[in-house]
Amino acid sequence: MRILVAGGAGFIGSAYLRRRLAAHPGDSVRVLDKLTYAGRRENLDGLDPDRVELVEGDIADRDAVGTAIEGCDAIVNFAAESHVDRSIQSPGEFIQTDVFGAFVMLEAARQAGIRYLQVSTDEVYGSIESGSFSEDSPLRPSSPYSASKAGGDLIVGAYRHTYDADALIVRGSNNYGPRQHPEKLIPLCILNALAGDPLPVYGDGMQVRNWIFVEDFCAAIDLVLQGGEAGEAYNVGGPDELPNIDAVKLILELTGRDGSLIEHVTDRPGHDRRYSLSSDKIRALGWEPGARFADGLRRTVEWYRDNEWWWAPIRSGEYRSYYQRHYGRALS
Ligand code: NAD
Ligand code: TYD
Repeated sequence: MRILVAGGAGFIGSAYLRRRLAAHPGDSVRVLDKLTYAGRRENLDGLDPDRVELVEGDIADRDAVGTAIEGCDAIVNFAAESHVDRSIQSPGEFIQTDVFGAFVMLEAARQAGIRYLQVSTDEVYGSIESGSFSEDSPLRPSSPYSASKAGGDLIVGAYRHTYDADALIVRGSNNYGPRQHPEKLIPLCILNALAGDPLPVYGDGMQVRNWIFVEDFCAAIDLVLQGGEAGEAYNVGGPDELPNIDAVKLILELTGRDGSLIEHVTDRPGHDRRYSLSSDKIRALGWEPGARFADGLRRTVEWYRDNEWWWAPIRSGEYRSYYQRHYGRALS
């Protein structure tokens, strides 16, 4: 197969390329990526150039998508604006890419008669006090990011219902692992701990997230692409749920730092208290949750320790001014 992987130069998309190419030696991929602040050519380093083609372009641009889709047998769409805090500061780009862009990709897939897999998030269900969301739970997104992702998901449902399009959805919980942009909690705290900078914890730090190692999420995506039923959504949650403060303390332990680096800062507006997914449906396809958080986190810390070349340019670039603006203090 030749797969069009939109957003393949980002964190999860590039992990998916690695998995797909290793698991399917006859396959090739075309990456369509706008290379925003979150997308990087370096994320494709080490992949066989004969099997990976990178096309720089916007998923909301019909012409770019029309050209990129030629000769492809399926689309996996990772492309999105993906950070909740940035969506609170600047929602328009999220609606443009995560809603309109998803529509453009889906429409192109429908016209080409190929499968479209929408990569989505547990955040579309909103917050849950106890228990877990199933695929039938109502969508109650609360941030501009999650509302935009929910918009994309609803269009996928409508295309299936109305046009019988071969489209389906995978909803993952919070991913972590190599090559995640340091704006997100786990890499932010790893890099701040390594540098001796404070670790900013929103509010009381008792918000609960369900963590999944990126390779385990990518395995689920591949399984659904191959064997998922059109029109269906599949939840993919990791094996461990924990309050943010516990995740942060584990990072301090793994980096040899103490609790004095923890700094409770102003909470995120509208902050979802807890996410939790039931993954029974994808388990029935043969998927297992994989790495426990403590193991995956150890591997992730090692990766960041060993790959300063990857994160140093980010930490000294646009991210520095974003950090200063958002947290009101400079990185060291
Ligand atoms: P990321 O921000 O690391 O990467 C996003 C990629 O999309 C980047 O390469 C960026 O350049 C590209 N992109 C952005 N706008 C684009 C556009 N208009 N056209 C083409 N390319 C564009 O994000 P990620 O964490 O890898 O997330 C990938 C997908 O998985 C997203 O759809 C996200 O909603 C979903 N998801 C993420 C998580 C998580 O914890 N990170 C969890 C569940 C689902
Ligand atoms: P994040 O990695 O931004 O993912 P999401 O908001 O999509 O879940 O944040 C994970 C959790 O960590 C979330 O509850 C917000 C919290 N958080 C902090 O406490 N401090 C921070 O500096 C960041 C970025 C996040």
